[in-house]
Amino acid sequence: MNIFIINGPNLNLLGLREPDVYGKETYADLLARIRDHAQKRGCVVDIRQTNHEGVIIDWIQENWSKFDGIILNAGALTHYSYAIRDCVKAVPIPVIEVHLSDISAREPFRKFSVLEDVCAAQIKGKGWAGYLEAIDLLLKGKEVQ
Ligand code: DQA
Repeated sequence: MNIFIINGPNLNLLGLREPDVYGKETYADLLARIRDHAQKRGCVVDIRQTNHEGVIIDWIQENWSKFDGIILNAGALTHYSYAIRDCVKAVPIPVIEVHLSDISAREPFRKFSVLEDVCAAQIKGKGWAGYLEAIDLLLKGKEVQ
């Protein structure tokens, strides 16, 4: 299975950024954990990070057909990007929304995700383990098909 993993704004700052919320592990640590898990499960992952909304849209539009599923942590764009929502809705492969923190237990503006109802699932509040769970969920979906 080929999985496209996209991380949005500020996720590259893990380790530095609000460690009480996101933990002390760095973005490189997150990548290592995802790659290790993907290898154990026999998946190929393409993991990218950008701080730009339009880049996320371009990446999805240009690459979705090469993948069986997408794992998307759109960062703060989750809460207001109708453009990413429309793009997710347009592509015929499952997109799993992941958040390191529990967005439902934080500031009011984070409680709502404009992506949730166009994604196959939302995983939140499980830290890096949420990405591994998302990989397993995509694999499970593949078995069911
Ligand atoms: C986040 C939650 C968002 O509200 C925030 O803007 C982020 C990270 C998370 O992974 O918990 O950048 O998506």
